[in-house]
Amino acid sequence: MMKIGLVGCGAISGIYLQKLTGTFTNVTITAVADLNESRAREKAEQFGIPRIMTLDQMLADDGIDLILNLTTPRSHYSINKKALLAGKHVYVEKPLALTYAEGKELIEIAQSKGLYVGCAPDTFLGAGIQTCIDLIQKGAIGKPVGGATFMLCHGHELWHPDPAFYYDFGGGPLFDMGPYYVTALVRMLGRAESVVSYCGRTYETRTSGKGESIPVKVDTHDVGLIRFACGAIVSVTTSFDVWHQSMPKFHLFGTEGTLKVPDPNSFGGPVELAARDQADFHTVDLITPYAENSRGIGVSELALACEEKRVNNASGYLALHVLEIMESIIRSNAEHREIVLESSPSELVPMDWSAPVGQLKTK
Ligand SMILES: NC(=O)c1ccc[n+]([C@@H]2O[C@H](COP(=O)([O-])OP(=O)(O)OC[C@H]3O[C@@H](n4cnc5c(N)ncnc54)[C@H](O)[C@@H]3O)[C@@H](O)[C@H]2O)c1
Repeated sequence: MMKIGLVGCGAISGIYLQKLTGTFTNVTITAVADLNESRAREKAEQFGIPRIMTLDQMLADDGIDLILNLTTPRSHYSINKKALLAGKHVYVEKPLALTYAEGKELIEIAQSKGLYVGCAPDTFLGAGIQTCIDLIQKGAIGKPVGGATFMLCHGHELWHPDPAFYYDFGGGPLFDMGPYYVTALVRMLGRAESVVSYCGRTYETRTSGKGESIPVKVDTHDVGLIRFACGAIVSVTTSFDVWHQSMPKFHLFGTEGTLKVPDPNSFGGPVELAARDQADFHTVDLITPYAENSRGIGVSELALACEEKRVNNASGYLALHVLEIMESIIRSNAEHREIVLESSPSELVPMDWSAPVGQLKTK
């Protein structure tokens, strides 16, 4: 049983607490922390967590194995680093860190201390993307040729209670929503080799639901082109500047057909496939039971990997590759050139999806 200290009791913490106390059986949350103590108290009471602590108390506590870092992006690197230096495994919400250099440093510390790093998103362990991976591996679309993804909206300030971080470094549509798309692409197509892009910014300030003005410090309309080692070329558009649209979210094209990939910010379907000689798309049955919001599955899988002494699926190596791709989309635009990538993700470890829900098993 891996013992977890959860830091950051904001909007996303509820689903992690629900799944890690109610569904996944190989982990236990022993303490929660937040700069805002009343938030920590509220979550502790709601989910029956025995202790409220500070981060420093957690780091000094031998009873805590892993820090689950659900704070806002600016705090990710510093908390991850402190936790690793204190000898704790880390699982962090995306992004792993604000820069590739910081991400690399974290992975190096973890390697030198024999510790695990895990990072969201873990949606690729959900039924939708796992079904797509299975189809691609079985040759359903043949050799991947390319694809297009569109994450288009007008920002999160209309619904999030504290939306300023979405327009700060580590936010923007690329760093906030890009991880879902890029992670799914890397898990379906493998390592990416190079990136080119154009990025833009339409508004200098945004207005929160409470009427507060938010400075926009990052680009908010980003169009990247990623070339994968398998040869596929995929366009990735992320924008917080679009009012209305009816673009398909995610298509992959292959020599033998086309795959409509479900929203990678969800765990379910639909997965739709059209083979080259078929007139239209048909819906494919999902191959795993995790079709509903199962955030936290990556934490449970990390605990299993630790027990089995193998690399975890939502690994730091995967997150670092995704971070390098995202940072390169920003850099390519700034430097007007193609960026060749240096990092590589860890291999996908196949899971036995016939295992009971909440009790993950490797194939
Ligand atoms: N809100 C969502 O729907 C959503 C979905 C998926 C992923 N995420 C990711 O989850 C992370 C958190 O997002 P959120 O929406 O829950 O943010 P939030 O602002 O609602 O909550 C963050 C919490 O972290 C606390 N915090 C910040 N710095 C801290 C520190 N140094 N020590 C202790 N506590 C600290 C804050 O007080 C706050 O309670 C972000 O990385 C975001 O990208 C959010």
